[in-house]
Amino acid sequence: MSHPLSPDDIAALQSAVDWWADAGVEALPPLPEETRPQPQARQAPQRREPQQTSREQRQTASPAAAQAAGYGALPDQYGAAMARAANDIEALKAALGDYNGCPLKATARNLVFARGNPQAKVMLVGEAPGRDEDAEGKPFVGEAGQLLDKMLAAIGLDETSAYITNLVFWRPPGNRKPTDQEVEACTPFTARHIELIKPDALVLVGGLSTQTLLGAKQGITALRGKWTDYKCEDGTSIPTLPIFHPAFLIRRPQEKAKAWADLLSLKGKLGG
Ligand code: URA
Repeated sequence: MSHPLSPDDIAALQSAVDWWADAGVEALPPLPEETRPQPQARQAPQRREPQQTSREQRQTASPAAAQAAGYGALPDQYGAAMARAANDIEALKAALGDYNGCPLKATARNLVFARGNPQAKVMLVGEAPGRDEDAEGKPFVGEAGQLLDKMLAAIGLDETSAYITNLVFWRPPGNRKPTDQEVEACTPFTARHIELIKPDALVLVGGLSTQTLLGAKQGITALRGKWTDYKCEDGTSIPTLPIFHPAFLIRRPQEKAKAWADLLSLKGKLGG
């Protein structure tokens, strides 16, 4: 029997499904019971209890619905207090698991915390997870992450000698840029993350983490390759190097020479 849909129909449907997945819609909620076909002989209508919102239903929520559900409604000091109370990396990860101050949590599949060695001398902070990172719950595992791994390998670093995280811990739907509010909701945790790892060298990967964590106005093109100090809340400073984001280097391979110079500078700082 031939398929009722033509190959073109199937391709169009697949592309619509992919588009929704890219936009962060990972599952459709079940139809409310009232809209399902009802049997003819009905019993006396029963009062329905208010429905519990399932995780799948929350995943389809718009930013406005996420806010209405209580995500992102917490004052900034709440996140800062939770982050400060975390005395080690595991406690910080657990605190993020409990934290509902960032609206992105409502649409993400997973918390994307970190990968690599927490004892490493070098810590890299990227921007925000994408689709692959959201699915795996690990930062930099997609195409940009593969390039980042190659860049690190070129100076002898890997997951045993580097620690990799992001500024923002949940995927923005459709891989859009996180809003200021979303970044602000995550920043106390990122700051505490850096303070707890206390690397010998901090690498800020891309413009967003550079501008946010250094409070800089200039763009990454002006700041990359220039060592500066990141000031921790405990008063200590960490030598910090902004570099181009690998996603940018994929789009602009002609800039790779500058990234290579920056990597050599990092290698020199680490004593290699
Ligand atoms: N880009 C980032 O900045 N971080 C990731 O984890 C993936 C892509």
